[in-house]
Amino acid sequence: MNNIRNFCIIAHIDHGKSTLADRLLERTQTIKITEGQMLDNMDLERERGITIKSHAIQMEYKHNGETYILNLIDTPGHVDFSYEVSRSIAACEGALLVVDATQGVQAQTISNLYMAIEHDLEIIPVLNKIDMPSAMPDEVEDEIIELIGCKREDILRASGKTGEGVDEVLAAIVERVPHPNGDTKAPLQALIFDSVFNSFRGIIAYFKIENGEIRKGDKVKFFNTGMEYVADEVGVLKMDMVPRDVLKTGEVGYIISGIKDATEVKVGDTITHVTRPCDKAIAGFQEVKPMVFAGVYPIDPSEYENLRASLEKLQLNDASLTFAPESSVALGFGFRCGFLGLLHMEIVQERLDREFNMDVITTVPNVSYMVYDKQGNVKEVHNPSGLPEQTMIDHIEEPYIRSTIITTTNFIGPIMTLCLDKRGELINQEYVSGNRVELHFMLPLGEIVIDFYDKLKSISKGYASFDYHIDGFRPSRLAKLDILLNGEPVDALSALTHQDNAVTIGRKMCEKLKDLIPRQQFDIAIQAAIGAKIVARETIKCVRKDVTAKCYGGDVSRKRKLLEKQKKGKKRMKQIGNVEVPQKAFLAVLKLD
Ligand code: GTP
Repeated sequence: MNNIRNFCIIAHIDHGKSTLADRLLERTQTIKITEGQMLDNMDLERERGITIKSHAIQMEYKHNGETYILNLIDTPGHVDFSYEVSRSIAACEGALLVVDATQGVQAQTISNLYMAIEHDLEIIPVLNKIDMPSAMPDEVEDEIIELIGCKREDILRASGKTGEGVDEVLAAIVERVPHPNGDTKAPLQALIFDSVFNSFRGIIAYFKIENGEIRKGDKVKFFNTGMEYVADEVGVLKMDMVPRDVLKTGEVGYIISGIKDATEVKVGDTITHVTRPCDKAIAGFQEVKPMVFAGVYPIDPSEYENLRASLEKLQLNDASLTFAPESSVALGFGFRCGFLGLLHMEIVQERLDREFNMDVITTVPNVSYMVYDKQGNVKEVHNPSGLPEQTMIDHIEEPYIRSTIITTTNFIGPIMTLCLDKRGELINQEYVSGNRVELHFMLPLGEIVIDFYDKLKSISKGYASFDYHIDGFRPSRLAKLDILLNGEPVDALSALTHQDNAVTIGRKMCEKLKDLIPRQQFDIAIQAAIGAKIVARETIKCVRKDVTAKCYGGDVSRKRKLLEKQKKGKKRMKQIGNVEVPQKAFLAVLKLD
């Protein structure tokens, strides 16, 4: 136990976490890098540069004649996965705080740092990318000192790119991070901080042993789910899984026990023995609940069963994805999917498209609402069209977030306007250093899932970083806004909005839909309604769109080509009543201006 060091790397997106991790693996000869990075093993992750799922890897490092076992526990880098980050952090004794010397401290640096401090981790500040000409090492060091109150000489300077300073980082991990502490004789208590799906082995859970030990063949129990299993295989995580007969206090490893359903392994759960269980679970366990919902419908209705099969497969390695069948008058049969946040939703959409070749229409995302009726019953509603009659409702509560925005002083004004516009409430404002400022807002999550990120990015010219945590439900005055096409309500276009904004949003929706829905052979009336009251109207004038009009003469093959092209273009359309509506229209509300 004395020679083990468990650590993670906390950093804002793109500050160089993966690159630095690769250098550590290389220096310890855990891997030989040929090309690309080792920790992010999914295509999609690489392209987005975001570590979606956390992993763990063991290195051996010799320092002053002693061999040390360093376990690097990778943390996912995006706000949607903050609970998973918190569990990875809970499994460590130390953290490298990596800050990009060209960018300085950003929102996620701070929120992850607070988590690490909460768990009493030893923080090793690392100033990264010092090889870059635009690096501002002294200024950024000032920020770090201000942030964690360390001494200037405690800050290591490194470059994941050139490898400079990497040896000092390894030495600091050994010297500064405390070894794990636990009772080797106590009943087994191991924290699950991650799980992965393997098509041959089933679900593999990653854990860190807080107390006691685990042996191959042991009968174990997962504390919070109450499920019992046999530990068919336990081992440590190097580049491959390396089986062991026993794992002891302080060690990080994996367990395979024939689990088939991803939802049985909950991140944050405690593994203990059936015969000699620990008396309580490791603190901090939470059920992750999806907060953002959207309808996902196959464009071709006969693909419905394929879509279900694809979602089931996705769920195997993404237990936080939920789905339930739903039907829409407009879109037919599909699924209501639940996501942790917007980025999670995008990832699922992209994987459906790439890995499963599914052509789907997604509806506007919304959050989950708590609807209280006059009898005091509460119902969780995931879809505006599932809202009970207005007369039955006593009040509705919606989820709020506590957000951190870091920006430069010149953008405070526009950001303040944006957040207030989104029904935000400023909690406090602190200067990070020089001209940079940290703003905290309470905001309704429902406003964030609609065009918030894009707006923040454009008004701050990219100089604002954003992070958030869910902060409970609050009562809100919400109204259901319906959209009608030629008098037919289109359920998939309904939205819940704040009463004060409903009319404006209704008007903008109509204008936007007028642009998005192509002219057809008859007039199309677009109306927005709150209850029975029409609050806005636009008309799309009829026209016969003759794509062949431009073709001179009788070149038949060219004409046919054009017609086929038009037919293809139609595929992304949904027929609603007699109106053809393109996919873009279902997301119209996301881009209102
Ligand atoms: P996420 O996985 O999105 O959290 O990103 P990350 O923090 O892992 O960043 P990553 O290692 O992917 O690096 C982001 C970009 O910065 C990449 O283009 C790297 O090549 C580059 N980069 C990382 N470290 C250095 C460095 O020390 N110097 C220079 N010049 N570039 C670096």
